[in-house]
Amino acid sequence: MIKRINLVHFALVFCSTLVFSLYAQSTGKEAFQAKCASCHSIGSGDLIGPDLKDLSKRREIKWILGFIQDPGKYLDNDKIGKELLVKYKMKMPNLGISANEAKDLAAYIDTQSGGNSKKIDVVVPTGDAINGKKLFLGKVRLEKGGVACISCHSVAGEGKLGGGTLGPNLTDIFKRSGTSLALTLKSLPFPTMKGIFDKKPLVEKEVNDLYAYFSTIKPVKPGNHQANFIYIGLGGFIIVMMIFAFVWRNRLRDVRRKLVEGEK
Ligand code: HEC
Ligand code: HEC
Repeated sequence: MIKRINLVHFALVFCSTLVFSLYAQSTGKEAFQAKCASCHSIGSGDLIGPDLKDLSKRREIKWILGFIQDPGKYLDNDKIGKELLVKYKMKMPNLGISANEAKDLAAYIDTQSGGNSKKIDVVVPTGDAINGKKLFLGKVRLEKGGVACISCHSVAGEGKLGGGTLGPNLTDIFKRSGTSLALTLKSLPFPTMKGIFDKKPLVEKEVNDLYAYFSTIKPVKPGNHQANFIYIGLGGFIIVMMIFAFVWRNRLRDVRRKLVEGEK
């Protein structure tokens, strides 16, 4: 009797562990494809971010789980995090990963580290840089109705007031990310942008044209936009003064006349 209970107990624990680990792996896989694969491969080389093969061999599990949940904290304060940022030049965004999801992801990365997967060849898009610039500036509408990049991003020398400031300046984005920029543009895996572009993604031609545009941007000396603000401010001030002068010219004359008449 006791033996049988032990056996049943063992079978139950075994099955549930198996089911659970399969489940963790499959949710890990889904989450990885949806949230990480546009910037990371496992065993196929660096993309925007480092190749995650053998991650658990080079980092402690506590570090891995912490980093996945809140990369910003590590990139700003942690020694390894700071070194990674110097090397990869782009901040991994905070993707709102929960503690459980982080565990699933770490487990999935581990299981995938064994295989020797093929090198991912990033197909370098050929597009129309001039149309890409128009798309960026919102002069040509995005086909699916996404919001023009300029409302949140700036590029040196573009737009009188330099564009939006919610997102980072993209002047040197091509220099920072290289050809993997093509993958980034395809999925735009940034939390602030996902809300808009998940439902209204860029179509392939837009990705190609934007890529072509970013790869041709020439850096402009910084400070131009501030100068623009000052000139516009100064110009505005002069115009306002001229309007006052015009509107009040008669009043002044009246006052002067009264003064002159008063003297008589
Ligand atoms: C927008 C691109 C991007 C996305 C999306 C992204 N990462 Fe990253 N990740 C990076 C970059 C870039 C780095 C290198 C550190 C830095 O500069 O921010 C990095 C670093 C890491 C590291 C540290 C690697 C090491 O060698 O120590 C881990 C772990 C990691 N990412 C896991 C993930 C996981 C898991 C996801 C999905 C939930 C994810 N990342 C999504 C860009 C991204
Ligand atoms: C609603 C505002 C918004 C719009 C519209 C927007 N972005 Fe972004 N983008 C952001 C923010 C904010 C970030 C920084 C990451 C984050 O917090 O999500 C970002 C990050 C990026 C990055 C990574 C930059 C880096 O230095 O790490 C790229 C590339 C990018 N956006 C491209 C584009 C392109 C191309 C378009 C137009 C098709 C666009 N964005 C439209 C807000 C926006």
